[in-house]
Amino acid sequence: MGSFKNTMIVFFMLMTCGLGQQIRAITAYQNCDQKWHSEQINGDSQKTICQNGSLVSCISMILQTSGKTINNRAVNPAILNKYLTNNNGYKQGSEINFSVLDKVGLHIVKTVSDLRTAIEYYNNKYYIVLNINYGKNYGVLIGYNEKDAIYLINNPINPSETKVAAKDITVALIFKPL
Ligand SMILES: *[C@@H]1O[C@H](CO)[C@@H](O)[C@H](O)[C@H]1NC(C)=O
Ligand SMILES: *[C@@H]1O[C@H](CO)[C@@H](O)[C@H](O)[C@H]1NC(C)=O
Repeated sequence: MGSFKNTMIVFFMLMTCGLGQQIRAITAYQNCDQKWHSEQINGDSQKTICQNGSLVSCISMILQTSGKTINNRAVNPAILNKYLTNNNGYKQGSEINFSVLDKVGLHIVKTVSDLRTAIEYYNNKYYIVLNINYGKNYGVLIGYNEKDAIYLINNPINPSETKVAAKDITVALIFKPL
């Protein structure tokens, strides 16, 4: 009886703490993958996918997971970078011009600093990219534990670092596949 009670308490804690939260399956890419690490972003020899391609990698993960293709090819960071380079997809300073993504089937809904709003969208099947430490890193949200303010990401820079604290999140970018 006692152990049943304990089991129920643990079960209840798992539910309320959100530790039983399911992780969303999203393709993971790494910036520094040998296949594309040295490719230049927007033709700038100072900027490679390995060094500066964190956001490109995150958006590739979303496009690939939602079944979008570019020129009939599955999307990876190299293919997306080439597309953006050739289609005015970068603004000056190699920032991505998000409205160009509409043409490959991904729409940016908005950018929010309120994580509660981001989680509402996440729970309605939108994709969320977290800007971490003012753009030093980006990650695709794959789960969360709201109570402890821990967010789980596919991290393209350091794949083993999956947990991000709310205080380190600058803004959340909300995307919707078209
Ligand atoms: C690109 O990466 C380099 C090396 O990590 C970094 O010093 C620089 O600030 C980055 N630039 C941009 C625009 O992200
Ligand atoms: C971004 O892309 C849109 C759509 O192609 C274009 O109309 C707009 O001028 C671009 N903005 C910048 C700053 O390049």
